[in-house]
Amino acid sequence: MTRIFSGIKPTGHLTLGNYLGAVRQWAEVDQHRAESLFSVVDLHALTVDHDPGRVRRLSRQAATLLLASGIDPERATVFVQSHVDEHARLSYLLECVATDGEMRRMIQYKEKSALERARGGSVRLSLLTYPVLMAADILAYGADEVPVGDDQVQHVELTRDLAVRFNQRYGHTFVVPRATYPKVAARVMDLQDPTSKMGKSGDVGAGIVYLLDEPDVVRKKILRAVTDSGSEVEYDREGKPGVANLLEIFAACEGGSPEDLSGVYESYGALKKDTAEAVVEVLRPVQEKHKELVADPAYVEEVLRRGAERARGMSRPMVDTAYRAIGLLPPVNEEL
Ligand code: TYM
Repeated sequence: MTRIFSGIKPTGHLTLGNYLGAVRQWAEVDQHRAESLFSVVDLHALTVDHDPGRVRRLSRQAATLLLASGIDPERATVFVQSHVDEHARLSYLLECVATDGEMRRMIQYKEKSALERARGGSVRLSLLTYPVLMAADILAYGADEVPVGDDQVQHVELTRDLAVRFNQRYGHTFVVPRATYPKVAARVMDLQDPTSKMGKSGDVGAGIVYLLDEPDVVRKKILRAVTDSGSEVEYDREGKPGVANLLEIFAACEGGSPEDLSGVYESYGALKKDTAEAVVEVLRPVQEKHKELVADPAYVEEVLRRGAERARGMSRPMVDTAYRAIGLLPPVNEEL
C-alpha cells in the first residue's frame, strides 16, 4: 500500500494557504487512499527565534485543527514530531550524506536567513540543516508520497537526492519519495501582496486568512484584497496576480477551474464577495469541529499518544537499518 507522510510546523496560526494547499487534501483524499502519517513538526519551529510557551500552544492547536479538518485518527497516524526520537536520530545520519553547498542553495534558507540578518538577529545553525530534518521525517517512514504546497518542492527534491545518494553508497535502504500537489491553490498568495505567499509566520495579518478567523474577519480581509489595474476579471497569474489569487481560492473552495470561473464575473467586487462567502463556508465546519475538540483536550492528547506510539513502531526499524548500513556498530545483544 502507498504510504504518505506530511507535516505542518507550529510557527504561527494555520492559514487558508495551509488548508487549501495541504491539509484539506490530506483529510479529503490522502487518508482514504493510502496509509498516512500527518505530523505537527515542532522541532522545525525551533529554527527561528521562538517563544517556548507559544510553540507549545501552537503545536496543540495545529494538532487539534488537523483533527477538526477531518483527519481521522482511526485511518491516519497523527502525532507530534518531537514525541518520536527517530526523526532527530536519522537527521544526523543524513547530515553525513548532505553537503554544505547543497544546504546553502535552499531558497527558504536564503530568504529566511537574509530576513533574520536584516533584523539584526543571528541565524540558527538549525535553519541551515532544517531541510535535512525534513528529509529524515519523510525517509524514516519509507513514505512514497509527500503531499505539500509548491513552496516545498525544493525540500522534497533534496529528500530524493539524499535517499538516492544514501542507497548508492550504503546499499538500498530508503524509498525515494515524490511530492504531490493539489490541482488548484498549490500556492495561495497574500491578499495584500499577491506576489508573495500567504505565510503563517508573516507578522501582519491583513493579507492572511487564518483558519480560525471569525466569518466577518474573513469577509473583511477578502473584500479588502489588493486587486489589479483594469477591471476585467481574467485569470492571468503574471499580469493580474491579485485577481488570479482570488480566482484560485474561489475555485479551490467551490470546485471548477479558475479559468472557467473568470468568465462568470464582470467585476472585481462581485468576485470578491462570492469568494469571501465561499471561504466562510469552507471554514465553517472546521471551526465548529475545532470548538468541540478544544472542549475535550484529553481526547486530543490520547490521539497524539497513540499516534506517537504507532509512528515509533513504524520508524524504528527503518532508522536502525540505516544505522547499520552506514557503518555504526549495533549495541551488544543485537544481531548484525
Ligand atoms: P509549513 O508548515 O510551512 O506548511 C504546511 C503545508 O502547507 C503548505 N502551504 C501552502 N500551500 C499553499 N499556499 C500557501 N500559501 C501555503 N503555505 C503553506 C506547505 O506547502 C505545506 O505542505 N517544511 C514544511 C513542514 C515539514 C514537512 C516535513 C512537510 C517538515 N517536515 C515532511 C512534508 C514532509 C513546512 O514548513 O510546511
